Amino acid sequence: MSEPAVAVTELTKVFPVPWRRQEIVAVQNLNLRVEPGEVYGLLGPNGSGKSTTLKIILGLVSTTRGQTEIFGRNSRLVESREAVGFLPESPYFYKYLTGAETLRFFGKLCGLSRASLKKRVDEVLELVGLADARDRRLSGYSKGMLQRIGLAQALIDEPKLIVLDEPTAGVDPAGSREIRDLIVDLKRRGITVLLSSHLLAQVQEVCDRVGILAGGVLVREGKLEELIAIENQTELVLQNASDNLLHEIETLAVESHAKLIAHRRSTTTLERLFLEATTKHHSKE
Ligand SMILES: Nc1ncnc2c1ncn2[C@@H]1O[C@H](COP(=O)(O)OP(=O)(O)O)[C@@H](O)[C@H]1O
Ligand SMILES: [Mg+2]
Repeated sequence: MSEPAVAVTELTKVFPVPWRRQEIVAVQNLNLRVEPGEVYGLLGPNGSGKSTTLKIILGLVSTTRGQTEIFGRNSRLVESREAVGFLPESPYFYKYLTGAETLRFFGKLCGLSRASLKKRVDEVLELVGLADARDRRLSGYSKGMLQRIGLAQALIDEPKLIVLDEPTAGVDPAGSREIRDLIVDLKRRGITVLLSSHLLAQVQEVCDRVGILAGGVLVREGKLEELIAIENQTELVLQNASDNLLHEIETLAVESHAKLIAHRRSTTTLERLFLEATTKHHSKE
């Protein structure tokens, strides 16, 4: 097996609380592997330790016990962050800069040369769908657009791994759809994505694997289809089935001792309904 993009081994993080006796155990004995090219979702309610875990992986917070590695390099080493882009939970941007200026600023921080900077700024603006808004100030951007400029910032130095903390939180359904499409696009380009979210339904379709944190403990992990599959149940989805055919299928099922649990019209999701109903009126920001 190739080297994991992210490896978390026996990680524990305890925050001391100076003015109280007890400490906060934010992460407890956590083990995780994110394989190269995969989209991994770290899910869990607020306060379950997602951001702390991501910050430790990025070397921004120290560990209490255990260790984390990025492509085989310990997170304590500066080199471990060479090929990593990060979109924090509440990114701070200079509102008076335009989209293009913001990306030039971050590109310079990454040490990109003048020549490659211009080309790369154009590329990432195109990639996140903000080419048309490049010369507008961020003060006029919507929350969804700000998240996309944050993604563009994280991509400026062509990372192999991108870490996104709650990328769709606070973004409306259309904006959140765009961000999820972008994540799928990054995966197609071979970029490994590690994201966190407390909005389970929103990220489930883009994640190859998920881990569920509760109170700093990994309570479930695996491929999404396998985690949410119901043992020994199967669904048939039919189009244009006559009453007769349905009746025959039901009779056959009963004869072979299978139990028919539900018989209902297929439904769409509320999100799809919402998107279809609002797209006509949704002019591109
Ligand atoms: N710098 C800190 N000092 C003290 N406690 C912290 C600090 N950062 C996070 N915590 C605590 O650690 C727990 C996990 O927080 P966090 O990782 O932010 O969770 P999540 O991102 O899942 O919402 C929470 O109880 C939070 O209050
Ligand atoms: Mg968080």
